[in-house]
Amino acid sequence: MKKIVIDGGYPLSGTISIGGAKNSAVALIPASLLANDVCSIRNVPNITDRDALFDIVKLLNCEIKQKDNTITIDPSELKNTLISQDLSVKLRASYYFMGVLLGKYKHVEIFFPGGCNIGSRPIDLHLKGFKKMGAKVTKRGHKYILDAENLHGSDIKLDFASVGATINIMFAAVLADGETIINNAAKEVEIINIADYLNKMGAKITGAGTGTIKIDGVKELHGSEINVIPDRIEAGTYIIMGALLGNNLKVAGIIPSHNEALFNKLKEMGVDYKIGEDYVIINKCDNLKPVNVTTEVYPGFPTDLGQPFSVLLTQAKGQSIMEETIWENRVGHYPCLEKMGANIEVDHLVATIKGPSKLKGTEINATDLRGGAALIAAGLLASGRTYIQDIDYILRGYENIIHKLTSVGAKIRIEEI
Ligand code: UD1
Repeated sequence: MKKIVIDGGYPLSGTISIGGAKNSAVALIPASLLANDVCSIRNVPNITDRDALFDIVKLLNCEIKQKDNTITIDPSELKNTLISQDLSVKLRASYYFMGVLLGKYKHVEIFFPGGCNIGSRPIDLHLKGFKKMGAKVTKRGHKYILDAENLHGSDIKLDFASVGATINIMFAAVLADGETIINNAAKEVEIINIADYLNKMGAKITGAGTGTIKIDGVKELHGSEINVIPDRIEAGTYIIMGALLGNNLKVAGIIPSHNEALFNKLKEMGVDYKIGEDYVIINKCDNLKPVNVTTEVYPGFPTDLGQPFSVLLTQAKGQSIMEETIWENRVGHYPCLEKMGANIEVDHLVATIKGPSKLKGTEINATDLRGGAALIAAGLLASGRTYIQDIDYILRGYENIIHKLTSVGAKIRIEEI
């Protein structure tokens, strides 16, 4: 068991370079199995979710080679076999093998996916889409068996613009007969990255990044290569830390337009930042104004930044509101922030935060990935020493977080318990 130990109060200056987007990479890796020969993905972040996907890819008899952050996957000897419960529950993104294997082999056996406990996280929209394309879904306990005699294109309307369902239906549709239209598709930038990859393999997808995606099924896909786009959530997390403690902190290797909703809120709060072509320089601000934030689907304020942003709200003068609308359980970090001295009232998914509060280091537990990142932000700001347990949640999705933060002046380390 490991814990993170932080001595708080040190300014952050220098440069943090942002890695590839977790939420893109975890879909691009399974997507590679749709091709018939070798695929290569550059800028893959070194996170434990990646390693969990590698285990599934290897189980399916595909060879993976890795050099630095570039991976190559050879799916030419793929064997479609049951993906065990142990592997399925290691991460949320295991569900992408459903769309991929159903699309390629018209048959898949897999268990309900895992992931952070931020809500019930159903997969009904994925399954509804597959069924409309002709798949039969059999559920035995937590195991799903999907079969299709003829997987055909269909006109699918998502009841909610789900990121996972949009991508999974795209995966099933690229090799299906005929045209699939996904209406009310999610518009997240990661979906464009994934559609680009599939199109480079020979798929025919238009409209990714808009609410209507069209996919013309093709007979087969060939090997290809892609760069993972920069991680806008990792970037956003360090930008928020910069607003708390930055002394000319540069967050580099970003696509600033992907973080527009965050920048708009920072501006409203009076944060001092300067955006360059692929970076932002950010400074701590002593006179933060309170704001109200509601998380939304892209391009709205991202749910994945709500928890880290709530730490910044504890430092604003007056009352702020943070309302979560996507997940039912993204509030696990608030009791920890209160234990550290924040003034927060939580009513279901709405947190009323009164600031500014002086935070003090204490012993706390991460309850999920982004909530864990919020606790790190709080620990960096707090006086004294903060101990964070259950840090595996954090390591799932933040590449080299300890090294990146120490390199800009933070006093943070991992200790074995
Ligand atoms: C992805 C991201 C996650 C982010 C989320 C929303 C990955 C690996 N994870 O998760 O970081 O927080 O988008 O931006 O990319 N829903 C259903 N039925 C379904 C699918 C989803 O009701 O079949 C609901 C969910 O319970 C949730 C909402 O739709 O309330 C959003 O879920 P979705 O967009 O699918 O999130 P993920 O793709 O799992």
